[in-house]
Amino acid sequence: MERIIDGEKLNVPEHIAVIMDGNGRWAKKRFMPRGFGHKAGADALEQALEDADELGIKYLTVYAFSTENWKRSVEEVTGLMNLFRKFLESAIPKSNKNNVRVRVLGERSKLAPDMIKAIENLEESTKNNTGLQFNVALNYGGRDEIARAMKKIAEEVKDGKLSPEDITEEVISSHLDTWEIPDPDLLIRTSGEERISNFLPWQLAYSEFYFTDTLWPDFNRNSFIEAIRHYTKRDRRYGGVK
Ligand code: FPP
Repeated sequence: MERIIDGEKLNVPEHIAVIMDGNGRWAKKRFMPRGFGHKAGADALEQALEDADELGIKYLTVYAFSTENWKRSVEEVTGLMNLFRKFLESAIPKSNKNNVRVRVLGERSKLAPDMIKAIENLEESTKNNTGLQFNVALNYGGRDEIARAMKKIAEEVKDGKLSPEDITEEVISSHLDTWEIPDPDLLIRTSGEERISNFLPWQLAYSEFYFTDTLWPDFNRNSFIEAIRHYTKRDRRYGGVK
């Protein structure tokens, strides 16, 4: 959607996905433990939500914890889980106040029971909000998501609810954790890494990618605008000719 932001005409993506990378390095630069970086990352995310809403973005999807992140130290994983707990708790009143709908993507059965309950509460109590939709990927892996979708589809075929000829791209999309969420227009990854690390591999098929050296805790409104500026210059053809 074209919008004038700070006097500049920009094409604002409807859906932005973000790999929030670099919390550890941000903390290390300050001779602080990694958890300090994650806390700063959570603060940056809170601000990013406000900025996204104000800039006119409709969907913001962030990678908070991957299926591979369990390999980190017990201390770091526990710290992250406690940050997520705090977020899940405070997100209900905050989201309802700001008309934000929250969904959590990923394989939740491996999360602690109190977190699963908190996720269900949060999704349920914000489901009628019509403003920004915020999607948090928690214990998310793209291949795992596709495998889970395939299992659901196979069950439906087995039960005679679906025939193999009817398995289209749309049917697959509707069985992913991102059902009813349009594919991201733009992927942002911070901290200089240039890979997608199993984040939304199906959904990012036609997305534009933007990589920045900024570490996630330093990501701010200006960083968002810079990413949108790059996006505005891109010419999306989806395999066709313009
Ligand atoms: C990557 O940086 C970041 C993560 C694995 C965690 C992302 C989590 C947050 C931003 C916390 C807040 C989230 C919510 C939903 C409240 P890294 O640790 O890999 O950094 P490094 O590459 O510099 O070590």
